[in-house]
Amino acid sequence: MGKILVTGGTGYIGSHTAVELIGQGFEVVIVDNLSNSQERTLDGIEEITGVRPLFERFDLCDTERTEAFFQKHTDIDAIIHFAAYKSVGESVQEPLKYYRNNLVSLMNLLDAMKKHGVQGMVFSSSCTVYGQPDELPVTEQAPIQKAVSPYGNTKQISEEIIEDFLKAGPALNAISLRYFNPIGAHPTGLIGELPLGVPENLVPYVTQTAIGIRKELKVFGDDYDTPDGSAIRDYLHVVDLAKAHIVAIRRILERKQKKNYEVFNLGTGRGVSVFEIIHTFEEVTGVKVNYVVTGRRPGDIEKIWADPTYANKELGWKAESTLGEALLSAWKWEQYYRDHLEKAKQ
Ligand code: NAD
Ligand code: WQD
Repeated sequence: MGKILVTGGTGYIGSHTAVELIGQGFEVVIVDNLSNSQERTLDGIEEITGVRPLFERFDLCDTERTEAFFQKHTDIDAIIHFAAYKSVGESVQEPLKYYRNNLVSLMNLLDAMKKHGVQGMVFSSSCTVYGQPDELPVTEQAPIQKAVSPYGNTKQISEEIIEDFLKAGPALNAISLRYFNPIGAHPTGLIGELPLGVPENLVPYVTQTAIGIRKELKVFGDDYDTPDGSAIRDYLHVVDLAKAHIVAIRRILERKQKKNYEVFNLGTGRGVSVFEIIHTFEEVTGVKVNYVVTGRRPGDIEKIWADPTYANKELGWKAESTLGEALLSAWKWEQYYRDHLEKAKQ
């Protein structure tokens, strides 16, 4: 079937993708330095799939260590490159940390791929490259806007690095997937998102407020030009997102690409407001979310949602889950995590 290197595979999206890959018969090797994840995620993957993926802990910015990895694993067919730092706020405070980590790790991998005959890479990009688009829903043809954060800029530069690298002629293929807002967890509740400290993202903040770790959720602005005044995003279930990676990997391995570098939006195509998230969460879980409306968060855009038509048609992929299912799975994970994993620490 194929041996896939999943970088960042103990992280949020990587772990869900590892589960789907294993389910489809791929052999998975995870590389992660555990800078934003925990090794016990491997237990969750094993419990769900019955298979414990190979795991190597090291920093992909370490060129020699990365090269040694590929010398050891000579039969990697393709890479899904999730490993990166992803906190927008931290990237503003520590831009070099972000540029170094996100770009050096990518370049090390591209070098190694060329040298070791790896067929291709699926790269984790982001809707952040569009900024606030002029037209909604946003297609892949929308202009890339100047990034508001160093994190966002690493995604733009990464896409350019991959494109330029492929133009220079190595017999490699790549697909950048521009994720909109991934939320939720595996329906078993055994793996999920593990935000360190105070969450920046909405859904982990909602679940932590619901479970009582946070006093109240701050709704960042109710004076936007949207039907209920709160900002709008395209939230997609992480399991749907994970499944898109399987299709993308197959497309590379089966040489079905139209060009050696392709870009796809991954979203539901539906815009959802912050208030809609809160109300749907309350509806599906029966738990109240204590919230207060505050001022807008600096740098936030008003509204964005994907036009996923290209991924729907070309990849045959569609986000299938409902918002309620995604929020319920996030809640199940929050409860499991607090119950089991926190206790295990004591
Ligand atoms: P995550 O932090 O949960 O996972 C990333 C993993 O990469 C972590 O386990 C971390 O320990 C590891 N890592 C980071 N730098 C590394 C390095 N130099 N060497 C080895 N391992 C390293 O994040 P996630 O939410 O799963 O995101 C995965 C990818 O998707 C990232 O590239 C992120 O920028 C991108 N993305 C995420 C979102 C989102 O909202 N979660 C949206 C769009 C794009
Ligand atoms: C969603 C909405 C907030 C927290 C970020 C990154 C982006 C991409 C996805 C990786 C917004 C509101 C949030 C809270 C709130 N990541 N909110 N109270 O802003 O779309 O994007 O994650 O590439 O690069 O910037 O996601 O989850 O932070 O916010 O009201 O406590 O929820 O204002 O409207 P966002 P988010």
